[in-house]
Amino acid sequence: MISKKVQDAFNDQINAELYSAYLYYSIQAYFEELNLEGFANWMKIQIQEELSHVAKFTNFINERGGRVIPKAIECPPIEWESPMVAFEATFTHEQAVSVSINKLVDIAIAENDHASKIFLDWFVSEQVEEEASVNAVVQKLKLMKDSPHGLFMIDRELAQRVFTPPAGQAT
Ligand code: FEO
Repeated sequence: MISKKVQDAFNDQINAELYSAYLYYSIQAYFEELNLEGFANWMKIQIQEELSHVAKFTNFINERGGRVIPKAIECPPIEWESPMVAFEATFTHEQAVSVSINKLVDIAIAENDHASKIFLDWFVSEQVEEEASVNAVVQKLKLMKDSPHGLFMIDRELAQRVFTPPAGQAT
C-alpha cells in the first residue's frame, strides 16, 4: 500500500508530466507555424515520452492500491523568440523535472518506501537521457546561431526521431 505522502507527491508528478506534454504541444505548434517540420516532429515524440511517463506513474499508483487524483494543468507559454530559445526553455524545463524526481526519491527514502524508490530509479536515469538529448539540440542551435541553412540541416535531422516505448510498456 502506498502512503498518503507518496501518493500525493506522485499525483503532483503526474500533473508535472502532463504539463510537460502540454508545454511541448505548444512548442510543437510554434514550430509547425515556422514550417520546421523536423523540429515539430521532435516535440511530437517528446509529447509521447511525457505521456508514457504519466502512464508509468498512473500504473504504479494503481498497483500499490493508491488513487490517481487529477488536478488542473497550468497553461504553457505560446511564443518564443527563436527555435534556440524554445529549445533552451525545453532544457530548463527538463532540469526542473530532474529536480522534482530527485525530491520524490527523497520522499520515498524518508517514508522507507523501497518499492517507490526502485520504481523511481528508472526516472532518475531517464532524466539523464532527457537532459542530454535536449542539450544536444541546444548546442547545435548555438553553433548554427539560428542561421537558415543551419536550421534546415537540424530540421532534417530532427525529422528522423521516432518514439521507442519504455520496456514493458505498450504505449
Ligand atoms: Fe517526463 Fe521530460 O520528463
